[in-house]
Amino acid sequence: MSHDRTTATLPRGYAFTDLGPDDLRDVLELDTWAFPMPADVDDLVELPSPLTWSRTGGVVREVTDESAEPLDGALPVRRELVGMHASYPFARFPVPGATTPVAGLTWVGVHPAHRRRRLLSAMIDRHLADCRERGEAVSALFAAEAGIYGRFGYGHAADDLRVTVPRGAALRDVPGAERHTVRVERASRERHGDLVAALHERAGADPTGRGPGTVVNRPGWATRETDALDASFWADAPAFRKGREALRIAIVELDGEPRGYARFRRSLAWETQGPRGTVSTGEVVALDPAAARALWGVLTDLDLSHEVTPFMIPADDALTHLLVDPRSASPRLADNLWVRVVDVPAALAARRYAADVDVVLHVHDARVPANEGRWRVRAAAFGEAWAGRTDDPADLTLDVRELGAAYLGGVTLASLAAAGFVAEHAPGTLAAASAAFAWPVAPVCSWVF
Ligand SMILES: CC(C)(COP(=O)(O)OP(=O)(O)OC[C@H]1O[C@@H](n2cnc3c(N)ncnc32)[C@H](O)[C@@H]1OP(=O)(O)O)[C@@H](O)C(=O)NCCC(=O)NCCS
Repeated sequence: MSHDRTTATLPRGYAFTDLGPDDLRDVLELDTWAFPMPADVDDLVELPSPLTWSRTGGVVREVTDESAEPLDGALPVRRELVGMHASYPFARFPVPGATTPVAGLTWVGVHPAHRRRRLLSAMIDRHLADCRERGEAVSALFAAEAGIYGRFGYGHAADDLRVTVPRGAALRDVPGAERHTVRVERASRERHGDLVAALHERAGADPTGRGPGTVVNRPGWATRETDALDASFWADAPAFRKGREALRIAIVELDGEPRGYARFRRSLAWETQGPRGTVSTGEVVALDPAAARALWGVLTDLDLSHEVTPFMIPADDALTHLLVDPRSASPRLADNLWVRVVDVPAALAARRYAADVDVVLHVHDARVPANEGRWRVRAAAFGEAWAGRTDDPADLTLDVRELGAAYLGGVTLASLAAAGFVAEHAPGTLAAASAAFAWPVAPVCSWVF
């Protein structure tokens, strides 16, 4: 831990500190206090760390060591790491119709002995200030508990779908699927890292398979942009297998060219009625509908299995349309990304809109005063946007939390208004803005960061 940085927002006795690779063990000690897990720190320390250290900060508490010998008449002081947060630098994070730099807030933890003393609040203020300094107009995160981040201006911007598909579930035919082949292999970064990275990014840029030039991307589809993140994504530590096998991958190909993949693990229980295996999939990615049909066809018919449990798929995933009986898969939505607009005009101008729009938003932001006030956003459908401060009367009023919820295009302003969180002042402006802020493809991130 190196040079301290102090701010007035931390309670007395605590100080901010930068963290570096030498602090890894302390970081993991704290992380396992914040997030109980079965793995030992001695084992975790051997795994690749996903952190970008220059964006990793701690909170320390100074503790007098009563048991030590006094030095120059004073007892030595120990510094304990009791809080931390970090962010991933997503330089090309997909927002509707474009990519923009986004800070992926992560590794947020406070030691249980120091909780509810506003350490998190101070870390969030620091994070938001850092984002603005770095020119990141948006921050996004996965919430460990959904009740935490709304108060800090993060809005619930995306859901993912969890399903349990019975083995052999009937799937509708898609022309051309039968021309695909699927190979199944033990997964490794060495063998599959480049293939997965390329297919994943392509699927996010063109989720409808329209080809070059499309602006209809999948918002939220973050890629593992740093080497550390990618290495960590492929680490297959036995401690995290939860009784399942080592990581496998199914690769779907057309004429020898990869068109998609699914990372998965199987587990098997022998019960009186026979083998009851579960196929747990991570990312299931396909570049076109026929490849998706071929891939799901294989995943839903693996021997000794009785169900497939994809972890997080887009709410509008092809599977939802392929299943003849969607009810049989017991679909359930879970909150996926939470989004915080950190710089209102920069964020509004960084995305595209699905319809012509010219609207004045009155934004309230209790944490970032620079965002407070009236902002005009103007854009032609699917073209570049402009946003700036205005003295004109507001068409709509909303909190920055609601702007974050609507930002990726998956939550409509109309639905937020229906819940009482967006006010319309000029009749007609809500419907028009709502259509423009919405996006044809549901936002989602396919992996937890
Ligand atoms: C969540 C956590 C970081 C909160 O840290 P903290 O320092 O206790 O938070 P603060 O004291 O700054 O709390 C600020 C506000 O958030 C609320 N809050 C904190 N944790 C909350 C939770 N888990 N659920 C709901 N509200 C929560 C506090 O009640 C307080 O509310 P108020 O402003 O209305 O008074 C900490 O409890 C922790 O490490 N939990 C386990 C790991 C985890 O969930 N990390 C988050 C990863 S996304």
